[in-house]
Amino acid sequence: MTKAACTSDAWYKTAVIYELYVRGFQDSNRDGRGDFRGLISRLDYLVSLGINCIWLMPIYPTPGKDDGYDIMDYYGVNSEYGTLEDFRSLIHEAHSRGLRIIGELVLNHTSDQHRWFQEAKKGPDSPYFDYYVWSDNPEKYSAATIIFSDLETSNWSYCKENGYYYWHRFFHHQPDLNYDNPQVRQEMIRVVRFWMDLGLDGFRVDAVPYLYEREGTNCENLPETHAFIKEIRAVLDSDYPGAILLAEANQWPEDLVKYFGDGDEFHMAFNFPLMPRLFMSLQLEHHGPIIDIMKRLPTIPESCQWAMFLRNHDEMTLEMVTDEERDYMFNAYAEDRQMRLNRGIRRRLAPLLGNDRRKIELLHAILLTLPGTPVLYYGDEIGMGDNIYLGDRNGVRTPMHWNDNKNAGFSEAQPSRLYAPVITDPVYNFHSVNVEEDRNNRNSLFSWLRNLICIRRNFPIFGAGTIEFLYPDNKRVLVYLIRHEEMRMLCVFNLSPSAQPVEIDLSFLGNCIPIEIVGGTIFPAIGELPYLLTPNGYGYYIFHLFE
Ligand code: GLC
Ligand code: CA
Repeated sequence: MTKAACTSDAWYKTAVIYELYVRGFQDSNRDGRGDFRGLISRLDYLVSLGINCIWLMPIYPTPGKDDGYDIMDYYGVNSEYGTLEDFRSLIHEAHSRGLRIIGELVLNHTSDQHRWFQEAKKGPDSPYFDYYVWSDNPEKYSAATIIFSDLETSNWSYCKENGYYYWHRFFHHQPDLNYDNPQVRQEMIRVVRFWMDLGLDGFRVDAVPYLYEREGTNCENLPETHAFIKEIRAVLDSDYPGAILLAEANQWPEDLVKYFGDGDEFHMAFNFPLMPRLFMSLQLEHHGPIIDIMKRLPTIPESCQWAMFLRNHDEMTLEMVTDEERDYMFNAYAEDRQMRLNRGIRRRLAPLLGNDRRKIELLHAILLTLPGTPVLYYGDEIGMGDNIYLGDRNGVRTPMHWNDNKNAGFSEAQPSRLYAPVITDPVYNFHSVNVEEDRNNRNSLFSWLRNLICIRRNFPIFGAGTIEFLYPDNKRVLVYLIRHEEMRMLCVFNLSPSAQPVEIDLSFLGNCIPIEIVGGTIFPAIGELPYLLTPNGYGYYIFHLFE
């Protein structure tokens, strides 16, 4: 291992992260909503799955119009979730089990219920007016796109109180903060310090590209934004070493990699360009989309890392694809219009993949072996379903299924009190899809995934290595080699539903013996001749190569 990969400050390079929605995880006080104490009682479950870092969706006080991404106060917690003391205990309990916790840093906007905005509405004389972006001309910055295109018609909304328009890249109730104001920047650094002092291990930074606006640009990825993130990073490096920043920047590769700076900006960034192409390759039964986009990703600084994901709490965004590709994806994965939202698909992993266990395993196997750190989404480890009729993105945020008791073991409240119903449809209902069922079954998705996570964690090469794609004639098969120092892993994935013969030229490796790491089976030696494999439909091999 290189130094960066094995010192504990670079823990994120070999971590397995689990994204979790506090409201949806476990209710401890029968009010129908998950809370910190409930989550504490489920930490051992997360340990048993093998993850070692939790990413919490927002936990701040909020009017709840965007599930907490609309913040009313950066220095407190949502009282439905518990008290700040409960949150401290959560951090303590997690740390004592070897789990790290990263929170959300929502820099771009606040809720319109935030005291700053309430004050700002009083007009230009208010000391807070300049905390937000105002104009009397709603045509300003017209080159900026509307992100929530199904729900908003403009990035400007009129404020009746003061007669100006305020700028918002997301919902109209989420006014953008004005980063040209040094007070705003200082305030946010103070927020960072507050949560760091409390013991968080870092932040997923929300909606990064949009911090600044400049006329004549699309108001994304501006140099000023990079400069401010570097300031935050410098604070972490000097006062909170080991804490990380993870970027949510849904951008094309060229713009995305800039968020790593020279290793002095974000530690990690979600691989948004890759995510939809994993699904595209699978649908097309062709390794092209995955290889092409990976080749377009420039090398990133040694201390940086991709965050790899299949699904999260949002719709599967189809922004980083061409219009043609988007149409293809809509037709393939969201035939029913109810499944579409903005420019994406609001579905969980299992339903997206037609509940095909082989496909679910295949995508996870790719996710866990490509260079980067995997980020799983709660519930996907048991193949939970969704509810596309709940509106916005709520259908992928329903209560976790723990067992087949009342409310799937999530809450003791009356079912009608739950913040959202558990899934009861015939295929994904909680009687059959739940943690207890899966944990007791050695052949379940959960057991399979736990095993693969364990293997992955025993081979830190997967987080630290470099990738080299191989190009077999049979394009239904994806083949890559991961190298790190003397170690080499060969990964082979059949993207089609039927068995495929594949000849791979491995003569450049010299004589070596592949050992398949899931079963520990020794395969025939690699020599001069093309190496022949015949993976089953959606089958895969992960080999450790020995001299
Ligand atoms: C991010 C979040 C999303 C939220 C938006 C506005 O994209 O992932 O859930 O709605 O930011 O804060
Ligand atoms: Ca509760």
